[in-house]
Amino acid sequence: MKKYTLDWNRYTDLARTAVAEGAVLLKNEKETLPIKAGTTISIFGRNQFNYFKSGTGSGGMVNVSYVSSPLDALKDCPDIHLNQSLLQVYEDWLEENPFDKGEGWAGEPWSQKEMPVTEEMVADAAVNSDMALIMIGRTAGEDRDNTADPGSFLLTDVENKMIEMVTKAFSKTAVILNVGNIIDMKWAIDFNPSAIVYGWQGGMEGGNGLIDVLTGKVSPSGKLTDTISYSINDNPSTENFGHEDIGIYQEDIYVGYRYFETFAKDKVLYPFGFGLSYTSFATEVIEATESEGIINLKVNVTNTGKISGKEVVQVYVEKPQGLLGNPSRSLVSFAKTMLLEAGKRQTLDISIPVNDFACYDDNGVTGYKSSYILEKGTYRIYAGTDVRSASPVFDYNIDALQVIESLSENMAPVTPFQRIKPIANENGYEVAYENVPLRTIDVQERYLSERPTSREYTGNRGHKLTDVYHGKVSLDTFLDQLSDEDLASIVRGQGMNSPRVTPGTAGAFGGISDKLNDFSIPAVCCADGPSGIRMDIGTKAFSLPNGTLLASTFNLELIEDLFEMTGLEMRKNRVDTLLGPGMNIHRNPLNGRNFEYFSEDPYLTGKMAVAQLNGMHRVGVTGTLKHLSANNQEFHRHDINCIVSERALREIYLKGFEMAVKEGKAYSMMTTYGGVNGIWTAGLYDQNTRILRDEWGFDGIVMTDWWAKVNQEGEKANRENTAAMVRSQNDLYMVVGEPEANPFEDNTISSIEDGTLTRGELLRSAANICKFIMRSPVMERTLGLNDGAIDVIGLDEEVEEELDFDVSYQHVKDGESINLMDVDTSTGSSHAFAISVDQSGMYEVTLTVRSFAGELAQMPVTIFANNMPVATLTFNGTGGEWVSQTKQMFFVNQHNYLKLYFSLGGLEVKEITFKLANSFSMRNL
Ligand code: BGC
Repeated sequence: MKKYTLDWNRYTDLARTAVAEGAVLLKNEKETLPIKAGTTISIFGRNQFNYFKSGTGSGGMVNVSYVSSPLDALKDCPDIHLNQSLLQVYEDWLEENPFDKGEGWAGEPWSQKEMPVTEEMVADAAVNSDMALIMIGRTAGEDRDNTADPGSFLLTDVENKMIEMVTKAFSKTAVILNVGNIIDMKWAIDFNPSAIVYGWQGGMEGGNGLIDVLTGKVSPSGKLTDTISYSINDNPSTENFGHEDIGIYQEDIYVGYRYFETFAKDKVLYPFGFGLSYTSFATEVIEATESEGIINLKVNVTNTGKISGKEVVQVYVEKPQGLLGNPSRSLVSFAKTMLLEAGKRQTLDISIPVNDFACYDDNGVTGYKSSYILEKGTYRIYAGTDVRSASPVFDYNIDALQVIESLSENMAPVTPFQRIKPIANENGYEVAYENVPLRTIDVQERYLSERPTSREYTGNRGHKLTDVYHGKVSLDTFLDQLSDEDLASIVRGQGMNSPRVTPGTAGAFGGISDKLNDFSIPAVCCADGPSGIRMDIGTKAFSLPNGTLLASTFNLELIEDLFEMTGLEMRKNRVDTLLGPGMNIHRNPLNGRNFEYFSEDPYLTGKMAVAQLNGMHRVGVTGTLKHLSANNQEFHRHDINCIVSERALREIYLKGFEMAVKEGKAYSMMTTYGGVNGIWTAGLYDQNTRILRDEWGFDGIVMTDWWAKVNQEGEKANRENTAAMVRSQNDLYMVVGEPEANPFEDNTISSIEDGTLTRGELLRSAANICKFIMRSPVMERTLGLNDGAIDVIGLDEEVEEELDFDVSYQHVKDGESINLMDVDTSTGSSHAFAISVDQSGMYEVTLTVRSFAGELAQMPVTIFANNMPVATLTFNGTGGEWVSQTKQMFFVNQHNYLKLYFSLGGLEVKEITFKLANSFSMRNL
């Protein structure tokens, strides 16, 4: 029996290191940073008290035992003094201007009201301190994009004024950005602060890691994963971002620096890959050769400064324009040094397969349609420490076109549009347009000719999944025992809060009915998400730095080690697959979920996903890569149809996923809410079968995003069309309340009956699901090979909660009550319980209490549903009479955790009653 140990101190150290290595120092004049011992600092900006550990939505809802804020971390530095009177001014102001949480899902404002600073305040601070820090915070997240407005992508007038006044009064001002994503930087030009740091959102160790950098304990080595241009309007995708129904990807493969370096260098304020250090480095390519299709570089990196630090060497290729057209630079490799002491040198060996330079010909202009090819010409290799300053180090010449991989047309657009293609001018290249090649095949016909064969139902012969695991029976023979109904329910996932898996998680699949459990099929647990394990019952977990920060480290080893810890934490919480990493491309800085994702560059994105997978795979759990593909805006995310060329899909939007499959051995994927070229990805056969499995060799499961819509070409997408989903080999519909009851009235069975779906297709998905289960920790537990227990060391006892995996649900019918007579209602106590209701929807929840306290006594009871406060009912003394108060509450799920919190004792509680006011189904959204 393999025993696992999770060392919480190591977890914390790795996360703290990641935060420090992910911080990007953009500017550092007048020796502003690091803050020297003995310095007195004035800190401006309310964000010092309201640090954002992550963005919002499923990628941020991790319950934490603490979040280290930069202010607290600074207070812990004995040799740094804080301007206490300024702190007091903020504290007083915050009393009147508390943090605004907003209301509900996607309701939190993306910025908080800032305290206006006055001339006197700033002048006084300047006299009493040596330097200023200005902290600016932004959040954003799921279901709501950023906007190019003050308070979101732009600074507000109050923030601008604050920077203006502080930079005038102080000679040294460092602006620290606690943001998930790049923001507009005009203020940097207008007010010229002496230092700027992107600190991102660092999770629960955020403050500690950031202060390690600001105080010089760690020299910064983070690099930008996106280009920062002067204006959002400089970005080629802005015009086509955020529309309601369709998003035309006119910029094609010219995303981020691929566009700016080719066409608009002068629009760039900070280039991709840029980031300063407190020390200096000399990088020199001492050898560049090619042998058997591999370019090998030896790069000497010498620390020429006075303190230790790390540096990142980035390698780019400039491909010949050829017939297809190409960006001036594409990242093809990178390597980070170890910590180099002053004066020390390290030689980095970097190998790049020439085949990685291949381009996809989606229109046949080269004579090789649907192939990856290397056009003839010179492939110039550049090495350096950002895309702009990287210099030529090697030329690789190809004399005649080479075909690297012959594939077939998949996912091609049907809507005509024009895409960018460079044409040369006297200064380089300018933007020209060409018609996008449109689809030439009949997807319906092709798919029909590729259907798997069906096999007959044999009835139950007593074979269990455990027999398949032990090699006693084949998976096919086992699955043949499942009726069509069984198969229809195995492709339905259960959630949120499935009672079959770890309480409070996003979903379960596999053995989601007693019938399926009788075949020894256990229920697999999946939990959000990219920034740590989300358990809505309130269980605490480790909150990780956000995706952009992790990618800014450019440190694959570190990310791998960190995600081994996350893998162990998943084992501890019995989570088989994390719903992450999020790996969509930062197509536009306004995407609300960019904080979860890594970069505008597909190579860096792919490498980061591989590192996370490697870490989790070390301990036998995995990640579900999301969202496949082109999930690039939140606005109208269920209904947006992305119109994009096959080349851009393959070279930009699918590339990272491809790397994660081929190099990271990914075996779980989540599709998107929206559509690509008219077909919603949850039913996109070209993507989910032909590219993912047939071309890349993926052997795993594909699940929908939660309550996603599906369609068949030409039809409006809806939540019932599981037949189209299964046909495409998206194996799982996530999620419904009671899968066996088919609450969404999906069309699996009716489609089997009318022949539009075959039993063979259902069996194929069931096989994918069962194979996944047999690789997961839940199978080891089912077989008794591992009891799931894991040793956790280094975690404070009061923080470590014993997780109760066996929460039992009380089924409450409409109008029924739960008796609460024995509940402890003393001050500060709480009572948690779980209920299952027949219908999700709006409920009238009535609490009946009495009190013998005085008439004017106020006794509040807060009701939490799924860890969110939903109502506070305040009762007075009732003279011993039973009284009731009713509040409406919305239960999205059929399974819900409730908690009553008694902030002041004195009440007796009799019962709580649940009456359905309006039923609701996610299906009808
Ligand atoms: C998000 C997914 C997430 C799922 C489960 C959806 O709203 O788009 O990324 O994993 O919910 O919480």
